[in-house]
Amino acid sequence: MAPPPLGLIAELTHRCPLQCAYCSNPLALDMPDSELSTEDWLRVLDEAAAIGILQVHFSGGEPMARRDLAALVRHAAARGLYTNIITSGVLLSDAAMAELLDAGIDHIQLSFQDAGAADGDRFGGYRGGHARKLEAARRIREAGLPLTTNFVIHRQNAERVEAMIALGEALGSERIEIAHTQYYGWGLLNRNALLPSFAQLEQANAVVAAARERLRGRIVIDYVVPDYYAARPKACMGGWGNRFINISPSGKALPCHAAETLPGFVFPSVREQSLTAIWAGSDAFLRFRGTDWMPPACASCDRREIDWGGCRCQALALAGDAAATDPACARAPDHHLMALAIGEAEGAPLDLVPRRLKQS
Ligand code: SF4
Ligand code: FES
Repeated sequence: MAPPPLGLIAELTHRCPLQCAYCSNPLALDMPDSELSTEDWLRVLDEAAAIGILQVHFSGGEPMARRDLAALVRHAAARGLYTNIITSGVLLSDAAMAELLDAGIDHIQLSFQDAGAADGDRFGGYRGGHARKLEAARRIREAGLPLTTNFVIHRQNAERVEAMIALGEALGSERIEIAHTQYYGWGLLNRNALLPSFAQLEQANAVVAAARERLRGRIVIDYVVPDYYAARPKACMGGWGNRFINISPSGKALPCHAAETLPGFVFPSVREQSLTAIWAGSDAFLRFRGTDWMPPACASCDRREIDWGGCRCQALALAGDAAATDPACARAPDHHLMALAIGEAEGAPLDLVPRRLKQS
C-alpha cells in the first residue's frame, strides 16, 4: 500500500478574471456548470484528512471565484489540514480577507505577472490587476499571514527578474518564487513566444544567485528553471502518484494538473470513488508510480528515485509517448527535441494566445 499523499491540490474552478498566456491549465477548460458542488468538496476534504493528507492547496483558475472558498477553508482547517490559497489576488477585498482569516487560512501565495503595472496588466490581460495585487499583498501582511509572491518569467519579461525580486521584498514576502514558465496547456501552445534564450536564462540565473546571497536568512527565493536547457529533468509532482493528488474542477482525480492530456487513461471521479480507493487502486495513479514502468534509460539510472524519470506529460507532448524518458534528460533518446524546440522559438513572433474559457 502506497503511503498517503502529502498534499491535495484542489482546483476549485477554471474560471479566472486573468488571461495569462502561460497558464498550465488544459486548453479544454472545465465549464462552470461542471464544477463540483460545495457538498462534494466538503466530502473530499473529509476524505483527505482521513487518508492522512497534511496540506490542501486551493487553486484554479482563480479559487477566489468560488463563493464557498471560505467555507471550504474553514472545513479543511477544522479537519487539521494546512490550508494554502494560490491566487491572482485581484478578488482579495478587505471583506474576503477578513472572511478567510476567520475561517483559519494558513498561507496565501500571490501571483504577479511582472514587476510593474503596465507589463503586469498586459500579460495578465486584466487592466488594473497589478494595482489590485499590491493591495492584496498589503492585506495579507496586515492580517499577519505569511506571504509568498510568485513571478512567472519568460522571454518577454526575463530582463526584469531583479525588479520582480525587489517588488517581492518591498511587499514583505517571506518567500519569493521565480518560476520559469512550464510548458503545459496554454504555456505549451504559446511556447515559441515564451521560451527564453540561453543568454536570458543565464542572466536570470545570475540575478537569482546574487539575490539569494543578499537576502540570505531573510527571504527564501525558490527558483524553477526551464526544462528545455536542463541536462536532467525535474521530479515532476515529486513522482507520479507519489506525493500529490490533484482534483480538477469537475472532480477528476489526476496525478498532475496536465494529466488529462495523456491518451488511454480513464481518470476516476471523486463523485464516484473515494480518495482512498483512487490513490491505492486506480490504474491512473498506478500506471507510472514507482520505477517498474520505466524505460531502459531510467531503469538503469541512479537518479530513478530522485526525479522519477521526469515528467510524463512532457514526454507525451514532446516525444509522443507518455512512457518515454522525459526528453529534458540528456540520457533520453529524444533529448535532441529540446534543442529543436529552442531553435524553433528563436526569432519567432511574440504574439500570445490569451487563456480563455472556450464556450462549447
Ligand atoms: Fe532521471 Fe531517467 Fe534521466 Fe535517469 S535517465 S536522470 S531517471 S530521467
Ligand atoms: Fe504531468 Fe509532469 S505535468 S507528469
